[in-house]
Amino acid sequence: MFGMGQPKVPISVTDLKFSIEDIEDYLSAPPNPRFQVPYTPKLWKTKEGETVVVREAKKEEAEVILDTLKQLIDHKYDKDFYHLVGVRTYSEILAWVQNRIKDSYALVVTSESGELLALVNHRFWDENVAISLHTMTFRRKSNLGIMAYASKIEHAFDFVGVNEWWATFESPFGFRMGFRYVHQTKQWPQYQHELGGSRVYYITKEMWETTVKPKLKARDLFGTRPVPEDLLKKTYPLRPPEKLEIEL
Ligand SMILES: CC(C)(COP(=O)(O)OP(=O)(O)OC[C@H]1O[C@@H](n2cnc3c(N)ncnc32)[C@H](O)[C@@H]1OP(=O)(O)O)[C@@H](O)C(=O)NCCC(=O)NCCS
Repeated sequence: MFGMGQPKVPISVTDLKFSIEDIEDYLSAPPNPRFQVPYTPKLWKTKEGETVVVREAKKEEAEVILDTLKQLIDHKYDKDFYHLVGVRTYSEILAWVQNRIKDSYALVVTSESGELLALVNHRFWDENVAISLHTMTFRRKSNLGIMAYASKIEHAFDFVGVNEWWATFESPFGFRMGFRYVHQTKQWPQYQHELGGSRVYYITKEMWETTVKPKLKARDLFGTRPVPEDLLKKTYPLRPPEKLEIEL
């Protein structure tokens, strides 16, 4: 029964206050610099020949990203899983800026003038495993999604140095990205991805080096560096997509 227990020795006070600051230490997941290795921006040309920039997303840009995602939280986007992926990504970006997700990292793909075209995010379970969260393109048919997905894998393996990449896929178009990069499957339900307990599709560092990265390069999906300083500057501030071009 609650309320019956008294300490067996006298206590000097009857109440103790807890400061919000002390509580926050228990609730928050402040980013560990070990995983926040800055992604060196790169250039890539879309299928149509437009130059785009892939760069890290800044926390100050979360508002633009959230306002963009908010539009997708609507039944009218119950097509190709934009609604479901939109709402999940919204919560992850919000948790990222409010320190309620462990070691998360996000990349944006922008036009040369800073228009948001695609977004990817992932997080680090530990030094060994990176968890893929979401990939979304706001302009389709340009291969932006599959290129952006590869960029976050690159961040996890080549910048942070994990040994495994754990993804799952909610949509057929998402699954096709994993299929094209020859992900393997962990036993299910023994292994469950944190996105809804679904199957874990993974690639190892060795698979990345020997199969996936060479394939990306051969298919012009890897991009090039450096990004000229003046061009990179023009991608700030991040602007919302002029329109959502997500109907095929
Ligand atoms: C998954 C996602 C990121 C993939 O992006 P993408 O690789 O750029 O691909 P798109 O969605 O633009 O689809 C283009 C593909 O559709 C197909 N397609 C169908 N009809 C088409 C048409 N009329 N014109 C062009 N392509 C068409 C083609 O196969 C084309 O790919 P290809 O040129 O490589 O063969 C993107 O679809 C998305 O954001 N989806 C919603 C969120 C989501 O499901 N995320 C993944 C969660 S696991």
